[in-house]
Amino acid sequence: MRFQSIAIDGPAGAGKSTLAKRVAGALGFLYVDTGAIYRTLGLFALRSGADPADPAAVAELLPRFSVRMDYGPDGIQHMFLGQEDVTQAIRAPEVSRASSAVSAIPEVRTYLLEMQRELARSHNVVMDGRDIGTVVLPQADVKVFLTASPEARAQRRCAELSARGMPQDYAAVLAEIVERDRRDTTRAAAPLRQAEDALLVDTTHLDLEESFHALLETVKKELEA
Ligand code: DC
Repeated sequence: MRFQSIAIDGPAGAGKSTLAKRVAGALGFLYVDTGAIYRTLGLFALRSGADPADPAAVAELLPRFSVRMDYGPDGIQHMFLGQEDVTQAIRAPEVSRASSAVSAIPEVRTYLLEMQRELARSHNVVMDGRDIGTVVLPQADVKVFLTASPEARAQRRCAELSARGMPQDYAAVLAEIVERDRRDTTRAAAPLRQAEDALLVDTTHLDLEESFHALLETVKKELEA
């Protein structure tokens, strides 16, 4: 059986995970948040005392990096580092920074590529990340580049962090987003960019419901084409 795959790429805070998860639910596809894999490695580097930006130190950790994804009955993607469920822990701001640093290391990307491709070979997937349409699944049935202005993304991130009980200053969050965009788009290994055949969905002026419908319509139209 040939499975279908939908690649959703875009910068941090564009609403990718929330929207991709809902689109996956609407289509009955498996939702795969690939950023969570990089986050789990970032957390492992921090806990191991390795500098997440040091390629040699991080490469040395890879053989001991025991990461697993599991989907509970709730359909939520849980991340395990060894035996520990780190689904919440990987959302901390210092882990965001560490994940961005480790994700720029070519050995890391190569190491994690097969795990992501295997999921798409064995399931219908909606996979979100930065390089899904360009590198991980270049043959994806639908490719979407989901974006929004840095200011809109910073506002949303602040609301999300407050809801998780980790309120942050807007200016600091915006600066962090701008810096993360710069790192994610300028790195040599699989930089964030829109695939030539990806459809652009800009949610700057859309609320969550509008964004969801825009994305779902785009995906459905493309699957039927
Ligand atoms: O989407 P996110 O914020 O959870 O991603 C965490 C980091 O991982 C982010 O800095 C970009 C990186 N990432 C990546 O390089 N490639 C992916 N496919 C997914 C995430």
